[in-house]
Amino acid sequence: MKDRFKVMSLVGARPQFIKLAPLCRAIEQFNARGGVQIDHFIVHTGQHYDHGMSDIFFEELEIPRPDLNLGVGSGKHGAQTAEMLKGTEDILLQEKPDILVIFGDTNSTAAGALAAAKLHIPIAHIEAGLRSFNRDMPEEINRVMSDHLSDILLAPTPTAIENLKREGLADRTESSGDIMYDTVMFNTKLARQKSTLIQDLQLEGQSIALATIHRAENTNDTQRLETLLNKLNEFADHHLPVVFPMHPRTKNMLPNVLPDWKPSPNLRVIEPVGYLDMLALIDHARLALTDSGGLQKEAFFLNTPCITLRDETEWVETIQAGGNRLAGADPELIDAAIADWAQRWADQTPDFTEAIHEAFGRADSAEKTIDAIVRFLEKSLPETEKVA
Ligand code: UD1
Ligand code: UDP
Repeated sequence: MKDRFKVMSLVGARPQFIKLAPLCRAIEQFNARGGVQIDHFIVHTGQHYDHGMSDIFFEELEIPRPDLNLGVGSGKHGAQTAEMLKGTEDILLQEKPDILVIFGDTNSTAAGALAAAKLHIPIAHIEAGLRSFNRDMPEEINRVMSDHLSDILLAPTPTAIENLKREGLADRTESSGDIMYDTVMFNTKLARQKSTLIQDLQLEGQSIALATIHRAENTNDTQRLETLLNKLNEFADHHLPVVFPMHPRTKNMLPNVLPDWKPSPNLRVIEPVGYLDMLALIDHARLALTDSGGLQKEAFFLNTPCITLRDETEWVETIQAGGNRLAGADPELIDAAIADWAQRWADQTPDFTEAIHEAFGRADSAEKTIDAIVRFLEKSLPETEKVA
């Protein structure tokens, strides 16, 4: 009789560490119940490697150290994904997990999906079914491919479930709720207690806004990047001071493409921050301006209005609830979104609780994910090996 399952998680980029944290906790809780046990093997592709983009999340979120780091690092899409594919295949062959868990939509996700599918190792995809319907985004290609190769599709929202159904994937779909909501709920109180960033920036008692920009569609297009950076300066000068933890992609790009751009003294460009500082910033901010997928959700979870600096979003429920507005990199749309924010939210805090629960669940996504994985694995066992 099989009394242990081996689950391998594959991560590589910042948002994936944040999604892995609640899964590790749910596995610990599952094992503590007794009965069948899960051996959890964590592989880091090395896609993100700076301390502030990687290790800090393992430390703060108390994620077990990865069992293996493939050390792939940065590179062009094909080269980076190929390195990951090779490394993941080797480790899958060596460790022979019962299932591979992949997260989100990065190149690490796609490499994991392809490696496991070719070896006939089942795949669980966390954050399945998200679609921007824009194939210019590398993430969209990674998502579509990963969903179609996976066996368990953990869909965070009703829209994601609908998207998967439309693609003929309904029978593999599980409504899991959003795993980042688990992370936010678990850490917000801790962030309020521990983070000193707002004081360190001497912004205590002041209203602020928070900005992030890292998407290829914004950073690789100099015109878009310049518009966005100038709009942030303008907002910081006319509305609120803005804290801008800059992604290394954007930081590395700037001296080459916009050597003369300078932040206004009210636009506080800082290094990427750890998760607790980030939560403290979101919690404290009156507005988030971002092209990040995760930050759109986290702002919503913490009742912070958001302006999304992209032409489309996968998180349509945040828009429908009035917590988020799309503005792309269009100066007029950005101005209109800011005017709307100023009128509605500059002086009061919204409450999105009901819409959050309706769209993203109840912060028990990791537990639902583990249940779905164990159910799947037990069902796949030959009759003689089924757990009593
Ligand atoms: C990746 C994901 C994106 C996700 C983002 C989260 C893909 C295709 N993109 O984008 O979906 O939203 O992570 O942050 O997988 N760099 C460093 N240090 C690091 C990591 C990166 O300096 O630790 C710099 C390098 O110059 C690198 C660039 O950032 O070339 C981009 O990194 P990469 O991982 O390729 O893509 P991201 O923009 O981070
Ligand atoms: N984040 C962070 N520090 C930062 C910027 C982002 O902890 O300086 C967190 C953010 O709160 C979210 C995740 O990183 O949980 C999102 O990552 P990112 O925007 O890089 O990627 P995306 O979600 O767009 O894929």
